[in-house]
Amino acid sequence: MEEGDEGEEYLFKVVIIGDSAVGKSNLLSRYARNEFNINSKATIGVEFQTQSVEIDGKEVKAQIWDTAGQERFRAVTSAYYRGAVGALIVYDISRSTTFDSVQRWLHELNTHSDTTVARMLVGNKCDLEEIRSVSVEEGKSLAEAEGLFFIETSALDSTNVKTAFEIVIKEIY
Ligand code: GTP
Ligand code: MG
Repeated sequence: MEEGDEGEEYLFKVVIIGDSAVGKSNLLSRYARNEFNINSKATIGVEFQTQSVEIDGKEVKAQIWDTAGQERFRAVTSAYYRGAVGALIVYDISRSTTFDSVQRWLHELNTHSDTTVARMLVGNKCDLEEIRSVSVEEGKSLAEAEGLFFIETSALDSTNVKTAFEIVIKEIY
């Protein structure tokens, strides 16, 4: 957390983690630029976007970091998590292997950050209801067991994308 010049501006670092192709980059582009890319390429290294949010009449800036889900494309792990005060742990509701990986991502998050990080479990691609393989109940109960917020989103049709980020940012604030 950093205080700006006026003492009224805040910058919060939020990280997005989860397996490759769960939609991390599209959640960020949908939130920050209202863009969706059906053919997006796997992220290499790290990207981030700064997004202003108004909370209780104050301008809050979130610096949202996105990295590769694929091990070989990832940046230095400790640097990625350093200073993070919020995290979105994303899986794809149509691929249960990505849900099985959540524990591994949580472990990595917990290893590299302290327990006060606001954490949201995100079941993305909820537009793919007809090929769903992780139920809402499974998502909810994992979140409850691990003390995470929980939400299902769709970067494709925009469902809950803003809410997912803003719940985390508000919790930090
Ligand atoms: P890495 O960078 O490799 O870690 O992947 P990522 O998690 O950033 O995934 P990315 O955002 O690149 O999306 C992967 C694929 O899923 C792309 O083809 C997207 O168009 C698609 N996708 C992302 N979000 C959604 C969604 O909400 N619904 C549907 N149907 N497809 C999505
Ligand atoms: Mg990506």
